[in-house]
Amino acid sequence: MPVTGIMRVGEVAIRVFDLDESRKHYGERMGLIESHQGDDDKLYYKCPDEHDLYSLVLRKADKPGIDYIGFKTAQDSDLDHFAERLREYGVEVEHVPAGTYAASGRRIRFRLPSGHEMQIYAQKEQNGNGMPLLNPGTIPDEGYIRGFRTVRLDHCLLGGTDIDANAKIMMEVFGMTMSEKLVSHENGMSLALFLTTSNKPHDIAFVLQPEGDKFHHVSFLLDNVYDLYHAADLIGKYEIAVDVAPNRHGVTRGATIYFFDPSGNRNEVFTGGYVHYPDTPTLTWDTSQLGKATFSQDNTVRPSFLEVLT
Ligand SMILES: [Fe+2]
Repeated sequence: MPVTGIMRVGEVAIRVFDLDESRKHYGERMGLIESHQGDDDKLYYKCPDEHDLYSLVLRKADKPGIDYIGFKTAQDSDLDHFAERLREYGVEVEHVPAGTYAASGRRIRFRLPSGHEMQIYAQKEQNGNGMPLLNPGTIPDEGYIRGFRTVRLDHCLLGGTDIDANAKIMMEVFGMTMSEKLVSHENGMSLALFLTTSNKPHDIAFVLQPEGDKFHHVSFLLDNVYDLYHAADLIGKYEIAVDVAPNRHGVTRGATIYFFDPSGNRNEVFTGGYVHYPDTPTLTWDTSQLGKATFSQDNTVRPSFLEVLT
């Protein structure tokens, strides 16, 4: 099936306390590329193998967390289609003119039942991935890929209320599929839902929280587990606060490290996982196997991983 409609999570905007500290973390240490200048209170970053101008926006604020998550859709006309479908589901939609967000075409924005702001856009300026489009070769010039050697923005995990209603919108309005879910062993209640709009094991996931609009993590793709281990070495070298050292998720089967930016927002580097197709059945885990579902190399739940959100 060709990827049409929503293609991927293309933009995440998070709040940070201090732009200089954030530049050191995301730019100098992680090696994300500061790819746009325009606002005094924001930094714009991209991963090396992304074509769009930016995928991560950091906004100076007095508390950390997420401002919004943005999905890129294949065609401009999708925006009107989705706006109409969202209204049928009782979701209020705002149309945002082109240029409101840096180097971006028009957008729609709305709040999910979990309290998060979601945006959809079809157009954003592109500045390439460091290689020409004609006869590109296989690797960019030395020095372009630095730090943690990230490939691209991969997914987000958001915490909030009413995550079943979120999943219903993701699937019925946007055509996403649910790759995996974690439910209560006692009563079957949904605790975490993993949704994909592509062949990735997840583009977005929601974890049940008593409060809405919470941010669990933003994740960046790496090529392979060797790069994951290299990132772990740099995390140690720079004494970056670690939440979970290298391990493998049961859910998604991705190899992972969790760490925190200087404002307390959780970041992940992620690699591996399986190829998902729309007809792949949803995999279900229950809390009797919570250790294995979260961290399958030691089957151990980390309380911080479940409890710390911004
Ligand atoms: Fe993740």
